[in-house]
Amino acid sequence: MTTIDDIKQVCVIGAGTMGSQIALQCALSGYAVNLNDAAADALERGMASNRALVGQRVSKGRITPAQGDAALARLQAVPDLADAAGTADFVIEAAFERLDVKREIFATLNDICAPQAILTSNSSTIVISKIVDGTLSDPSRAANFHFFHPATVMKLVEVSKGPATSEETAQVCMEFARRIGKEPVLLEKEIYGFIVNYILGSLSRAAFELLEGGYATAEDIDKALKLGLGHPMGPFELADFSGVDIMYHAMQTRYAETGDPADKPPAILEQMVREGRLGRKTGKGFYDYGHET
Ligand SMILES: NC(=O)c1ccc[n+]([C@@H]2O[C@H](COP(=O)([O-])OP(=O)(O)OC[C@H]3O[C@@H](n4cnc5c(N)ncnc54)[C@H](O)[C@@H]3O)[C@@H](O)[C@H]2O)c1
Repeated sequence: MTTIDDIKQVCVIGAGTMGSQIALQCALSGYAVNLNDAAADALERGMASNRALVGQRVSKGRITPAQGDAALARLQAVPDLADAAGTADFVIEAAFERLDVKREIFATLNDICAPQAILTSNSSTIVISKIVDGTLSDPSRAANFHFFHPATVMKLVEVSKGPATSEETAQVCMEFARRIGKEPVLLEKEIYGFIVNYILGSLSRAAFELLEGGYATAEDIDKALKLGLGHPMGPFELADFSGVDIMYHAMQTRYAETGDPADKPPAILEQMVREGRLGRKTGKGFYDYGHET
């Protein structure tokens, strides 16, 4: 069993929005990191954006040029998965949010990784048992390891045990999160959405009920939650920030899975996606930004 002090080499699979910054966070924290992606251009984009992020930190005086260079030297782009993960003590999968993609990756990890390596997924919605059942011969070494966007900035990591995850694996994940400068929370049992998105789902549903029922405007619902509950953003501002389409697809996936009418995406969201009102990225969502941001 890998202990926290055994972890020297990290592998991050998927160099997109999340994976590239997760890899950088680990490298900034002193770990050697192999960053892998199935697409060569995505891997190069991820590495380029990390070089730019390190440059920004250096120019703001948050790290020295030597610290920046050392972090980048610890971070390697490794296009072949067997090379990237074969020597890893801790693997973080951050590939596309598709069960088939993740299961295929974990089946490969089962063959190429050391038997004691800890294998985790950054998935936002797919619990670890669905990924490892039938793909890993030892599922006790796997867990969800869920970062928030942007991963170099947001402090929270949700560590979630599956039914087979060992206590040792969960505790190494918790400590690894701390060692890379994060604040972990532990879910003893897996549940869709973990803590944050589970509760956010209920909150958003209630906000849509009030909006669609004509009880209050989006502006006033957002204002009420900001001033009444101290939330930094209201649910509609958050939808615009994250992407109305992202929210719609997440709800649709959930609805397809449960068939529960309470999970059906609100009609207004579907209409906004059809009309291309996707939030900040298109300049218009629940709010009008006047231009693309
Ligand atoms: N974007 C977010 O805000 C966010 C937040 C938390 C967690 N997540 C989770 O992180 C994961 C990645 O999300 P993202 O937003 O970074 O996606 P993304 O689309 O930006 O990046 C995914 C990357 O994975 C690569 N990829 C796909 N299949 C692969 C394979 N078989 N092997 C190696 N690489 C492969 C793609 O080429 C792409 O570069 C998802 O599971 C998502 O649920 C996303």
